Amino acid sequence: MTGLPPGRTPGRYAVALVCLGNICRSPMADVVLSARIAEAGLDDRVSVESCGTGDWHVGGRMDHRAAATLTTAGYDASRHRAQQLDGSWADRFDVLLAMDESNLAGIRSATSAVGGAGKRMMLFRAFDPVDPGGEVPDPYYGGDTGFEEVLAMVERTTDAIVAALVVELALELGHADDRGSDRS
Ligand code: 4NP
Repeated sequence: MTGLPPGRTPGRYAVALVCLGNICRSPMADVVLSARIAEAGLDDRVSVESCGTGDWHVGGRMDHRAAATLTTAGYDASRHRAQQLDGSWADRFDVLLAMDESNLAGIRSATSAVGGAGKRMMLFRAFDPVDPGGEVPDPYYGGDTGFEEVLAMVERTTDAIVAALVVELALELGHADDRGSDRS
């Protein structure tokens, strides 16, 4: 199973989801991952945010087709407001998951990633249990079925990410216990 990079600090494990416009793919992944984390009772151990490498939609709501696809599937798409990636994201997040290769390149250039920070940047679909390592195709210029395909990819990949988060959080607890026993 693909693993997540170790958490950098003892606080909540911070996940960033990154696409181009932050109105279609990464907001859909943000809503689904946040819902699954809440269902797993991990709200106080994991935080999730999304952003885009572009600035066109900053402050705006999700694309109406992305929101409709999520709403039909029972999710709340109303709270999203688009944000743009900047250099601070590499410092603030334990992992940055890019929807496609060009988003991954965008993260690297916006954050000037070198050394350790580069290892915290991965393709979101590295965790896809059906077809790992591919891209989440951009549905912005296509029809409604593109959004349904994105949701199916996002849901199955998110389940695997939550499983990886459970493993990572258990490892962190183990390390904290080790530190505790060192002190005794
Ligand atoms: P996203 O899709 O990266 O999945 O949010 C896009 C949304 C808007 C644009 C491009 C892609 N745009 O060029 O405005």
